[in-house]
Amino acid sequence: MKVRAQIPTVKNATNFNTVADSKTVVGSTLDNLKAAIAGETGAHAKYTAFAKAAREQGYTQIARLFEATAAAELIHIDLEYTLVAEMEPGYVKPAVAAPAARACDLNLISGANGEIYETSDMYPAFIRKAQEEGNSKAVHVFTRAKLAESVHAERYLAAYNDLDAPDDDTFYLCPICGYIHKGEDFEKCPICFRPKSTFTAY
Ligand SMILES: [Fe+2]
Ligand SMILES: [Fe+2]
Repeated sequence: MKVRAQIPTVKNATNFNTVADSKTVVGSTLDNLKAAIAGETGAHAKYTAFAKAAREQGYTQIARLFEATAAAELIHIDLEYTLVAEMEPGYVKPAVAAPAARACDLNLISGANGEIYETSDMYPAFIRKAQEEGNSKAVHVFTRAKLAESVHAERYLAAYNDLDAPDDDTFYLCPICGYIHKGEDFEKCPICFRPKSTFTAY
């Protein structure tokens, strides 16, 4: 993902449309925040299981990618939980069982499919509803997650394509928005502009 002159937002970006065959059930923004937390919690559990499987199957670099992405989903959960807790004190985060892991190539495709759903369907639909409700905090949180998810999908598909040609590159996780960079060639987050020095290496 290239660094633009301005931080990308729903107002200055043209890739925030919702797919025509949307599978997202849109409720109030409070409902949508809870649904996003549930989805991100499922993704975190899935990637944690996939990381373990990747290590067992000998794909250590891909294990690091799954671990970084699992941590990224925790960042999204925290951002969304903060907003829910403001609107509904006492809300308890859901618990999700981890799915069974399969072969590493299929786990990468499973991850990419989930990320593509989130970036092209769930989050754009939730962003539109939050705009209708005038909830700028939710628009902001959903926007950062939406932008990070498509990068997650890109990382998973790149790992899928290079499954038999791994390298030693480090993955870097932005602690603010969940963006993940592969390798050293960057200076700041293209989503929230945080400097590389604040990133966590995997
Ligand atoms: Fe993600
Ligand atoms: Fe970021």
